[in-house]
Amino acid sequence: MTTTLVTGANRGIGLALAKQAAAAGHTVIGTAREPGTAVDLRETGARVLRLDAADPVSVDAFATELADEPVDILINNGAIFPDRAGLEGTDLDQFEATLRVNVRGPLAVTRALLPNLRAGERKTVATISSSMGSIAGTKSGGSYAYRVSKASVNMLMRAMAAEIDDLVFLAIDPGWVRTDMGGGDAALSPDESAAGVFAVASTATHEESGLFYRHDGERMDW
Ligand SMILES: NC(=O)c1ccc[n+]([C@@H]2O[C@H](COP(=O)([O-])OP(=O)(O)OC[C@H]3O[C@@H](n4cnc5c(N)ncnc54)[C@H](OP(=O)(O)O)[C@@H]3O)[C@@H](O)[C@H]2O)c1
Repeated sequence: MTTTLVTGANRGIGLALAKQAAAAGHTVIGTAREPGTAVDLRETGARVLRLDAADPVSVDAFATELADEPVDILINNGAIFPDRAGLEGTDLDQFEATLRVNVRGPLAVTRALLPNLRAGERKTVATISSSMGSIAGTKSGGSYAYRVSKASVNMLMRAMAAEIDDLVFLAIDPGWVRTDMGGGDAALSPDESAAGVFAVASTATHEESGLFYRHDGERMDW
């Protein structure tokens, strides 16, 4: 049985990813900062674990709870996007807080779960990135914390792929999605986006490690 673990799975794209994985017959572990309120996630049949990816105590407790259980596919999905301002309006504390969740989080969670991933069959780590993290594709400014955080997770996936041969590391742009983060005008429903993201993550091969994909399976420019 394939086990897929999705962080930030209580709403938005993470919840839709949990549904996709369950529909594919995977055993699903979804994380939430407040598991007691993760009603929709629980309804998917997922096992719900508590995780605040920015909190080292929480990451340790989460890894301890998983112990030596195999995890086939880890999807680092949880993130925040609090900064919509330009340079002069950028709040530096908010900048640091964003990097703590969006970059330190996936790094810490991936590192904590290395033994679980090695015990799994698929050995895949997919981190949800964004076109806003594409240096090549950037034609507008502002939202510096979020942009930098997503460019940074791209580098995390690329560099982990270069260092670690026995696992597959991907960065995946989910598109612009109608969630609390993406807003109501976005192009894709969470289910449409998650179907593509899940297909990319669940079929990744060793040769694809270190690449940046769109939800539709096309390659993204770094
Ligand atoms: N929506 C878009 O258009 C879009 C576009 C490009 C990329 N993305 C990326 O797609 C992913 C999902 O975004 P979304 O649109 O579904 O966002 P969302 O609706 O705002 O949901 C974000 C999720 O991340 C969780 N989270 C926040 N801080 C966390 C932490 N410290 N530790 C663990 N989980 C945490 C949230 O949990 P709480 O409920 O507890 O806050 C929530 O489950 C993110 O990586 C985002 O950057 C989204």
